[in-house]
Amino acid sequence: MSEHRSEPSHSNLLPDLDEWESFLQERYPQPREASSFRDYGTNVRPAVREFYRLNHRYQTLDFVRAKRRQYLALDHREMSIWEAMEFLNTLVDDSDPDTELSQIEHLMQTAEAIRGDVHPRWFILTGLIHDLGKILCLFGEPQWAVVGDTFPVGCRYSEKVVFPEFFRDNPDWQVAEYQTDCGIYEPACGLDRVHLSWGHDEYLYHVVRDHLPEEALAMIRYHSFYAAHREGAYTHLMNDDDRRRIEWVRAFNPYDLYSKGHEPPDVAALRPYYEDLIAEFFPTKLAW
Ligand SMILES: [Fe+2]
Ligand SMILES: [Fe+2]
Repeated sequence: MSEHRSEPSHSNLLPDLDEWESFLQERYPQPREASSFRDYGTNVRPAVREFYRLNHRYQTLDFVRAKRRQYLALDHREMSIWEAMEFLNTLVDDSDPDTELSQIEHLMQTAEAIRGDVHPRWFILTGLIHDLGKILCLFGEPQWAVVGDTFPVGCRYSEKVVFPEFFRDNPDWQVAEYQTDCGIYEPACGLDRVHLSWGHDEYLYHVVRDHLPEEALAMIRYHSFYAAHREGAYTHLMNDDDRRRIEWVRAFNPYDLYSKGHEPPDVAALRPYYEDLIAEFFPTKLAW
């Protein structure tokens, strides 16, 4: 089914899918821990480095366009939100089961942290679903096409993107049209017109876009766009709406990154609350 079967898959590259997110916590420590900022360039685990090498090498504009054609018709399956959560949970972590949360546990922990701060119900729901796009892994996509920081393709790469040196191996590096500040885009054209590297954010955004408020959609669509929401890059492509949206992404990010490492949530006990919340916003089945 994949149009890119000849691409290297390296499906066992990271011991588990969240290893890149553990790396994010090291790269972007909470502000109060900023003094312990680590030199990720030399200390980063080889598997994470290799993951980004592949991600930056193979995420070309053509690749992104092909994946959009392949997935954004949403003709792969029909599932409820809860079914998608259980489907995602079949992604088996090979790493230490005592220290790693399951995918459902990460989602619920994020949602519970948001709920604990008494945010609106759509915000809690966003925490619950924000990573469901990772089911792309179960459709056979390699990790470098599902997770990792996202970045615009078709224009110059920012030095603020993690491991910018790996972009030299991307074929788009040789395309002069793609290596100007705006590349194929217009200044201030708005992020909606900009193709980001393909991954779980953009996919889920298309699955849920008719059912959630725009603040929630921004959190889902841009939560891995660290160069923008943590580093302030790519403002020349943004319009005023994007600047508002990025603030929402910033509000969401701490719950994604820093709610980990606490006690795992009691999924069975919490399920009725979350089933009600899902039913408030979503139809019984969604097209994936
Ligand atoms: Fe994510
Ligand atoms: Fe997450």
